[in-house]
Amino acid sequence: MGLVETGRVSAIGNHVVRCIVCGQSNADLAVDFRCTKCGELLEVEFPGWSAGGAPDAAALRATWLARRTSNVPLDASGVWRFREVLPALDDWSHSITLREGNTPLYELPRCAHSAGVERLQAKHQGMNPTGSFKDTGMTVAISFARQNEFKWVACASTGNTSASMAAYAARGGMRSLVVIPEGKIAWGKLSQSLDYGALTCQLRTDFDGCVRVLDDIIRRYPVYLLNSVNPYRLEGQKTAAIELLEQLDWRVPDHVIVPGGNLGNNSALGKAFLELQRLGVVNSLPRVSVIQAEGANPLYRTIHETGGKELISVEADTLATAIRIGNPASWRKSIRVLEATGGRVEQVSEAEIAVAKAEIGADGVGCEPASAVTLAGLKKLTKCGFVKPHESVVLILTGHVLKDPEYTIQFHRGDLSVPRMADDEFLALTAPQRKAPIVLDASADAVLRALDDEDKRRG
Ligand code: F0G
Repeated sequence: MGLVETGRVSAIGNHVVRCIVCGQSNADLAVDFRCTKCGELLEVEFPGWSAGGAPDAAALRATWLARRTSNVPLDASGVWRFREVLPALDDWSHSITLREGNTPLYELPRCAHSAGVERLQAKHQGMNPTGSFKDTGMTVAISFARQNEFKWVACASTGNTSASMAAYAARGGMRSLVVIPEGKIAWGKLSQSLDYGALTCQLRTDFDGCVRVLDDIIRRYPVYLLNSVNPYRLEGQKTAAIELLEQLDWRVPDHVIVPGGNLGNNSALGKAFLELQRLGVVNSLPRVSVIQAEGANPLYRTIHETGGKELISVEADTLATAIRIGNPASWRKSIRVLEATGGRVEQVSEAEIAVAKAEIGADGVGCEPASAVTLAGLKKLTKCGFVKPHESVVLILTGHVLKDPEYTIQFHRGDLSVPRMADDEFLALTAPQRKAPIVLDASADAVLRALDDEDKRRG
């Protein structure tokens, strides 16, 4: 338990953990995963790759493909299948896996039409075991927590990280502390952390306030922090990009579009694209663009008002509660990815999000509100000419449609009240997508009349 008492863990094995600003290698990781010299974020690096020990690209592709038919748990995981480019555990038996990853890539033909592109695909990370992309990062980071003999893990969350952490902690026989904003997370997510047995604390503050409280807790109690400041989270999340390229037979799309909240996910995906290019697994990069809600747009403002030099924090407010974040931790990493890949940052309104969500649903796929910013953002990026109609585009859908059923039901019933817009205006803008349930007498005639009306409406 020595490691727990000192609150420090060692980075060993095939990787080092380095500060993204001052470059210091942090062999002993601080409890908050920030650089002990300058306080900035850290990232995992593989020194062996520069020392002539880079894995062979063709061998990597062959090994990863072969594992798709293996039933060994580590191979059956869509994360650990790519372990040659992940930080190595001392002992693979420390891995805690729910067979995460392995998510589908869907065609979205109707959404393509409404966004003005010939072809549109979506990588649905909401098809992970707990219904969000968080599982891919969680399996890696929590496995390191177990390797380092922590009893408790903790996160501040807008709901998905906490659901994921609670599940993986339960699987790994660990205790989990969830710190979430009271009243501002979707019911599906809250219910998950309860069922998975987490100690769930709803604090009377927002996500940014929860982060501050947890920052205090980790200095006073030996808990392992599982927010995306933990660089091992991003290593796991990186694999969605690898899996995507494999699904595309290693043909790199022109654009990948990601929702932005705490800004860990786009940073992770960007890291993967850059690493795969460096290893020669692919020869080019997609442009990775980030979309935020207008009411939670710190990255958008940071880029447009300071050229990306200084973070502009905001008081966040959006019904896409997953990305209701005003002070994102990974903003520097995110900007590096935007610059390295030539991506854009865009913001979208509550009405644009709601319409896009219903459109993704109407393609038979569905997602939670935060994921729908991708389609809403794509529409803006095609309109301004940044995305051309013939270019290939992949949206990263981050959360399952069942995460936030309350939003969906209120939307279709016409009961959703969004910030910064009058109800009438919102109703008018979203009318074509709304499809309220109809309450009828229990008679076949009544239902047949409804059917007839629907046929007439659709033509
Ligand atoms: N989409 C969903 C569904 C999310 O849950 C989140 C973040 C994001 C997008 C944004 O990703 O933070 O990496 O930029 N949810 C976190 C949580 C903050 O606590 O569940 P990001």
